[in-house]
Amino acid sequence: MRRVRRALLFTPGDEMHKIEKAAKLNVDSLIMDLEDGVALNRKAEARRTVATALRTLGFGQTERLVRLNPAGSPWQGDDLSATIDARPDGYVLPKVESPEEVRVLSTTIAAAERARGWPEGSIRLLVMIETALGVLQLRQIAAADPRLEALIFGAEDLAGDLGATRTPEGWEIFYARSAVVVAAAAYGLQAIDMIFAHLTDLDGLSRETRQAAQMGYSGKTVIHPRQIEPVQAVFTPSSEEIERAQRLIEAYAEFQAGGTGAFAWEGKMVDAPMIRAAEQTLARARAAGLFEG
Ligand code: COA
Ligand code: MG
Repeated sequence: MRRVRRALLFTPGDEMHKIEKAAKLNVDSLIMDLEDGVALNRKAEARRTVATALRTLGFGQTERLVRLNPAGSPWQGDDLSATIDARPDGYVLPKVESPEEVRVLSTTIAAAERARGWPEGSIRLLVMIETALGVLQLRQIAAADPRLEALIFGAEDLAGDLGATRTPEGWEIFYARSAVVVAAAAYGLQAIDMIFAHLTDLDGLSRETRQAAQMGYSGKTVIHPRQIEPVQAVFTPSSEEIERAQRLIEAYAEFQAGGTGAFAWEGKMVDAPMIRAAEQTLARARAAGLFEG
């Protein structure tokens, strides 16, 4: 079973203080950034800092990811060679526009794994969809490589690429946000939602996160420690939801045994799709360690 990624915290790769802090926050995943969160004249410093952090800090249960610079940039090769020996759990590839970029990176990682005697495929790959071309190529990108575990939607870069203006409602990026979750589901990948840039509006963050969960997203990228808890809470089923899902599945089994596929339950029609949703709730609960069985 794939690991749970409810909140994924971005931290600039050249700021050791923030990485040390992030390592203690119990966030599901940490993304140490070498790309746009790092100034051009700090790229080398960021690679060294991330490699040192990976080698020397304890991260608890937190997944350690490194965001590379995009394919075709002058930095990606050095990003990878400077960090791979420190053995991150995975890499995040930004601004992906073709399946080849994913395969080329995966092949390079595979060679590194073989050379070091690590299990092949052990270093994970998550890709960001955040350009117009990336959205149009979603299907090919999602199917590109078995190392791929998740699609991350990036709204800010996409808006720039489209010439769109970001609004709180987000209709300008809604087509792409939907397309990412559909492609992820079609190819068995996790879908991870965009960042919420407002640092103090926690109600707005919760609202946007609930919408993401309703759309089928299973996690969201965050940029500040205070955003972790509200996001992880939305993606964790409550005890009422877990209990309701269990009762629904039991009721369905009884009706099925009696030869009935669709039935009325607590005032609503229930049939197979609702059962699949209930099973997903239990899977999320199980993954979060809240439910066994
Ligand atoms: N990761 C780890 N620690 C962080 C953090 C992050 N993303 N954002 C803030 N912190 C820490 C700060 O260092 C500070 O620690 P301290 O009290 O020990 O000094 C504390 O949390 C409170 O931070 P605050 O003062 O509220 O924020 P700030 O003004 O220092 O930073 C940002 C604001 C936006 C620069 C910062 O949140 C950040 O760097 N976010 C990530 C940016 C990024 O990676 N962007 C690229 C991907 S979109
Ligand atoms: Mg970006």
